[in-house]
Amino acid sequence: MEQTPGPAGPPLTPRTAVVWSVLRAELDRRPAAELTVLDVGGGTGGFAVPLARAGHRVTVVDASPDALAALSRRAAEAGVAGRVRAVQGDADALAGLIEPASVDLVLCHAVLEVVDDPAPVVSALVGVLRPGGAASVLVAGRAAAVLGRAMNGHLDVAATLAADPTGAAGARDTLRRRFDVESAAALLAAAGLTVEEIHGVRVLADLLPAAVADGQAAALVELERTLAAQPPWRDVAAQLHLFARRPA
Ligand SMILES: C[S@@+](CC[C@H](N)C(=O)[O-])C[C@H]1O[C@@H](n2cnc3c(N)ncnc32)[C@H](O)[C@@H]1O
Repeated sequence: MEQTPGPAGPPLTPRTAVVWSVLRAELDRRPAAELTVLDVGGGTGGFAVPLARAGHRVTVVDASPDALAALSRRAAEAGVAGRVRAVQGDADALAGLIEPASVDLVLCHAVLEVVDDPAPVVSALVGVLRPGGAASVLVAGRAAAVLGRAMNGHLDVAATLAADPTGAAGARDTLRRRFDVESAAALLAAAGLTVEEIHGVRVLADLLPAAVADGQAAALVELERTLAAQPPWRDVAAQLHLFARRPA
């Protein structure tokens, strides 16, 4: 079984390094096991394909046929088409697509900020997890969006984002909501998950000039890793990663 990630895995970037660190620790708990993984809104398979290459069976549920077609191509190119299943469907209807209590690890990355209502989606994630199974949830952070808009001179948008209870900036916002550490953790806890770890993803990456981010890529990944678990840095990251478990 391959290491995930590693020399043969995906390149570690500020977008992925912290999440892979957390996932790898979970995979390493059962090193010889072929896990049943579900990636909700998994898109083109940035996580699904490396997980399949590491020997796990991965189902991706995504609303976009185009993303799923790209996923299937990517899985075939990686030689893991037999371990990746693409299912077109809505996260809101997950309960009807996946057998209850059948999944060891569920990923839901960059999805809860765009669905109609995140609470039933999180409930559905819990429903498909086996008792003791784990959830990797990545959501957009509100604080980073406020800082980003302000630094770009959009103080009115920053003020709206800071004051709006959902962390959105009206009809023109591309996201329906953003989260703070507390609101994200409360959402998962309300569905019955035990939150074990919270990290910030892209604490610095979006704030740096491209020349710095590209020119010192390895140093940036290391610094992101260092800051990811530490408030206040964690709390102002562009995304918040929550690792949670369905009680056994
Ligand atoms: C921002 S992308 C994230 C992709 C991937 N999870 C990642 O982190 O790289 C959001 C994905 O969620 C999918 N999506 C959006 N709304 C969805 C829904 N209601 N049900 C299922 N998939 C959805 C989109 O098609 C897209 O592939």
